[in-house]
Amino acid sequence: MPRTDQELRNLLETLSLEQKIGQLNMVGGSIYSEFNLSDQDNLIRRGLIGSVMYADPKTNNRLQKRNLELNSQAIPILFCSDVIHGADTNFPLPLAESCSWDPHLAMRTAEISAKEASALGVRLTFAPMADLAYDARWGRNVEGAGEDPYLNSLFTAARVRGFQGPDREKIDEHHLGSTIKHFAAYSYVVGGKDYNYSSIDSRTLKTKVMRPYEAGIEAGALAVMPGFNDLDGIPCVSNKTLLDKMLRKKWGFDGVIVSDYGAIKQNIIQHYENNGEDAAKGALEAGTDIDMESRLYIEHLSNLIKEKQIEIETLNKAVFRILKLKSRLGLFDSPFTDESREYSEIGTPEALDLAYEAACKSIVLLKNQQLLPLQKPIKIALIGPYANTKDALNGSWAAHRGYSKTQTIIEGFSRHTTGLCYSAGIENDTLLIDEVQRAVDECDVIIAAFGIENCLTGEAASLSKLQLPEKQMELFHHLQQFEKPIVALLMSGRPLVFNEIIEQANAVIMGWSLGTRTGDAIADTIFGINNPSGKLTMTFPRTAGQCPIPYNGYHECRPYQKNDFYTATYRDINDGPLFPFGYGISYNHYCYSIATLKKRQIAIDDSITIDLEISNEGKYLGREIIQVYVTKCVSQPLRPRLELVYFQIENFKPHEKRTIHLTFPAKNLCYEGENNHGIYQIKIGPNSSDLHSMELEII
Ligand code: NOJ
Repeated sequence: MPRTDQELRNLLETLSLEQKIGQLNMVGGSIYSEFNLSDQDNLIRRGLIGSVMYADPKTNNRLQKRNLELNSQAIPILFCSDVIHGADTNFPLPLAESCSWDPHLAMRTAEISAKEASALGVRLTFAPMADLAYDARWGRNVEGAGEDPYLNSLFTAARVRGFQGPDREKIDEHHLGSTIKHFAAYSYVVGGKDYNYSSIDSRTLKTKVMRPYEAGIEAGALAVMPGFNDLDGIPCVSNKTLLDKMLRKKWGFDGVIVSDYGAIKQNIIQHYENNGEDAAKGALEAGTDIDMESRLYIEHLSNLIKEKQIEIETLNKAVFRILKLKSRLGLFDSPFTDESREYSEIGTPEALDLAYEAACKSIVLLKNQQLLPLQKPIKIALIGPYANTKDALNGSWAAHRGYSKTQTIIEGFSRHTTGLCYSAGIENDTLLIDEVQRAVDECDVIIAAFGIENCLTGEAASLSKLQLPEKQMELFHHLQQFEKPIVALLMSGRPLVFNEIIEQANAVIMGWSLGTRTGDAIADTIFGINNPSGKLTMTFPRTAGQCPIPYNGYHECRPYQKNDFYTATYRDINDGPLFPFGYGISYNHYCYSIATLKKRQIAIDDSITIDLEISNEGKYLGREIIQVYVTKCVSQPLRPRLELVYFQIENFKPHEKRTIHLTFPAKNLCYEGENNHGIYQIKIGPNSSDLHSMELEII
């Protein structure tokens, strides 16, 4: 049973100053390598290891056992890790998974990830990332659920529920505590450059960026991680307005705030604090409870408190929150991990099936000139550096434990066809001209597996050009000479600029990094066993120079008009995205009739009801994501030119025509604390640029 608050307070009172500060200290896996056993014993005896980032049940159990033996108060160590899209079974990258538009799916993958991670000894994950995707140059968009606040909020909340299970007060042994990160606006780093300072206006912060974090808190996340960035010149980790006034007081968050890696120390590098002492004081007083790996709390807090520069009550509150977290996570009752679970609860058939379902639903078909699905018998030339590799398919933040289980694309295809020839196409930066020729000679169709390396997506992986490597473009041009149909597969955790491929390949599939079951999902999609249904949750630019290019920007003051020079555009490109938010096609074509609104005037607490006929003009079973957007006709202050307010997923039989009813609260259109009355354009369609519009008034 979780300890009562009184029991935790009693425990807290028995701790020495050093033991209290120790609870605030999180060390990395270095505790196992950097320290020898007697150092470890010494730290444990003094109570200086509150939490550890490491996932291996045996090693963690050994440390825990020593901790409970040596530490006079026997407070269990909390083990944490970045479980982002899997712990052993790798699921699609979060950005890819959000293209399913299926938050329930994300809840299920988070739940299996929690089950596997907890079997590996983890009790708290640093996920989900609730940062709103903003600038495609930023590599970390990959960890979140895209650029729309409504959709991102649903995914964030679902992932929290999946990780934590039904009861945040009592997390069971198959679930984990979850951490909302990187609070706040980490994606607004200038130029999309990771670890840069950030820039965001207060309106965008309030009306868009804060929403997914708040949704995660409402869903009950037990921890929050401040971003490395600053807000209005104050680093998030020391930002009292953000952490105390907003998060704790306004949103009522009663969990733990854990700094990002070394973030407290970085305040000195950023010329924000003078020294370690000031940095420790600033972060603790702002509300940061746990110091992840800068070790400034254990170095300085003791003196600061003895010298009365920090109130002991400030420390006590932080320690209490950490003890409470440990209690909610069931650590006092079961501090160890059952080591047999590592074998029985990992990579189960259930996990592998779910990995397949998630991979299939995350695939986005971007172009198809009536080439796909391929019909058998057919001879395929599978060419390219991503056909026979597991890198990129696992994705950045993949669980390395399960790395080798991932099916390559070639493995997926070999289940389907014997008429398969393969060439990596490029070796040591040289085109394998003869080998490619042999592979292509006999084939009916070329499947070109392109992509970028894992290290070019994720943390510290900002890009200024967003292009595929030149050699792959050379290979593409070479393949075109054979005059055979080309299906281009793009294995990348981020939007890339691949205009030429889009224009010239016959079919293009955004294959992301789909995890353990990539091979089957890609091959089954190409052969039509899966009809692709994913839709982009991030706008794809035509060139990196357009970034940021979110679909939900404000109205320009002079929108582009062809014959008017003085309007908003770039002179050197065809402006507009390569693919808009919400875009994705399937093997069917869905025809949307003009929709009708049940009532054209409604009150704020009414529901909006729309009828719409959709006909599947294709011959396949299919899944269509119907999207509803809104434009407020006049708004002071400004509102975005387009905002997603609702979506609905419908399954269709071949050639089925059906009337669909959509009902959602008018509140979805409203902004807290603003005048929401007035005329709105309600826009429905299969993506954010192909929309039918109707007028509605909120009275
Ligand atoms: C730094 C990253 O910014 C954060 O997301 C992650 O949780 C920590 N490192 C720990 O690995």
